[in-house]
Amino acid sequence: MDFKQSVVQALAGVLKDDLNEDQINKLIETPKSSDLGDYAFPCFALAKVRHMAPAKIAEELVGEIDATGFEKVVATGAYINFFLAKTTFATAVLAEIASKGSAYGDQQLGSGNVPIDMSSPNIAKPMSMGHLRSTVIGNSIAKILTKIGYSPIKINHLGDWGTQFGKLIVAYKKWGSEEAVKADPIKNLLEYYVRFHAEAETQPELDDEARAWFKKLEDGDEEAHKLWSWFRSESLKEFKRIYDILGVEFDSFKGEAFYNDKMDAITDELAAKNLLQESRGAEIVDLSKYNLNPALIRKSDGATLYMTRDLAAAIYRYKTYDFAQSLYVVGMEQTEHFKQLKAVLKEMGYDWADDIHHIPFGLITANGKKLSTRKGNVILLEKVLHEAVDLAKEQIAEKHPDLKNADEVAEAVGVGAVVFHDLKNERVDNFDFNLSEVVRFEGETGPYVQYTNARANSILGKAAVKPDASVALDDGSAWDVLKMLADYPATIARAARDYEPSVIAKYALKLAKTFNQYYAHTKILVEDQQLPARLALVQSVSVVLTSALDLLGVKAPKEM
Ligand code: ARG
Repeated sequence: MDFKQSVVQALAGVLKDDLNEDQINKLIETPKSSDLGDYAFPCFALAKVRHMAPAKIAEELVGEIDATGFEKVVATGAYINFFLAKTTFATAVLAEIASKGSAYGDQQLGSGNVPIDMSSPNIAKPMSMGHLRSTVIGNSIAKILTKIGYSPIKINHLGDWGTQFGKLIVAYKKWGSEEAVKADPIKNLLEYYVRFHAEAETQPELDDEARAWFKKLEDGDEEAHKLWSWFRSESLKEFKRIYDILGVEFDSFKGEAFYNDKMDAITDELAAKNLLQESRGAEIVDLSKYNLNPALIRKSDGATLYMTRDLAAAIYRYKTYDFAQSLYVVGMEQTEHFKQLKAVLKEMGYDWADDIHHIPFGLITANGKKLSTRKGNVILLEKVLHEAVDLAKEQIAEKHPDLKNADEVAEAVGVGAVVFHDLKNERVDNFDFNLSEVVRFEGETGPYVQYTNARANSILGKAAVKPDASVALDDGSAWDVLKMLADYPATIARAARDYEPSVIAKYALKLAKTFNQYYAHTKILVEDQQLPARLALVQSVSVVLTSALDLLGVKAPKEM
């Protein structure tokens, strides 16, 4: 069911000497309005070879093209416009969706394991909006890659190691209490951490104490380890609450600390491969030939670093998963870090470093300012989700007071709004966080798509007959909807190629809008011969909207 390909072939039949199929494929355009045809081929490129005016060429070619299977093929100025045979097209699209159901759009474009490093928040700190982005983008990419044949492995590379734990232990011992941490772990741990930074400005000796405690932790000191492990488990409990709300699951929670016992092997290997250099007591890998700053492997006090642990993790993932590709969904501000990571692996002789891809995303600011945990300028994710759900509850109570599972639907709509808002823009775009914008339910929003799907379901519920895709649909007003439905598999392929969930989100918005236009102009439930075909169209829209929302990690309630 590749209609563009049939246009390519029709053209290839008459352009053998001038262009190959690939070149033709790249030149084909989609006219702005379907009145001008479904595909258009511009003849400008042929003018040079054929020494003729483009419009003349278009006219000549139209006379030669085999138009079987098309409604018509016409020349309009310099363009050849192709009109697909509408009823054949409609039946083919609707029958395919009816038979495949939620598997519509599945394709074999790749295979093999793809570890996806995603979310990866830092212990004892609130999960930030950046981590939300990583979580929902990573989750969506995992779903999209599954749809095209890969086997993703979702890894939460928790920030559970590093010098900050030295600071935290010092702060806890000075100002903290067990009851406070138990009552509200992250809030209180964050408070200690923020206070540590404030006081360390005037008392630099605090930093020395923190370094000493981190050293103890690395050396396996019992008290230090017990505190660390307690902070970790309390934090993880809170993170899991958020993952539950978002409906995101992980295959692994192996964080930075997991790699502690693999540090010596890394530094030994780097040394054996003659890659380690000394620089002011620290050990580094020089990366000047890559035009990058040196990678810091070990500090002068012997402590290993974020980079060292990422090297161990990359190698561990390669050995464990024999990956086809390895993804890191991490903010754009870490671009240099991942370039260094790949460069060091290359220097170590690992060709598979080329299969490592950093999938960056843009920054979220609040009131134009950068967010900062240290300065206490944070947006609390859980609060945002709760507020969105409350607003959804209010709206549902107003619009649909007798809805049975109202709480469940409100959860799907509120959370869906936040997730969709994050995914609808290109991931590298920065955006300023505005709560009333995030929980908006009209316009280009997740709830708008969900609502359209619920409307389609309600039409199906009201109908006295069953959808039937084999009944011919001869309905010009359905044309744009049909074409969008047919475009779903190619849309998924594009989203996967660019690791770009926004391609799916934009598609879902456009399909919803196109369907609502159709609905506004057509009486769907009229009892005529084509009713089963129109219902098949409505059902297809619901199948595809539900699938698209699912690829974004957003639920599609049947009623709302
Ligand atoms: N914990 C880090 C942070 O919050 C992100 C970790 C990303 N993953 C990685 N393998 N480096 O900035």
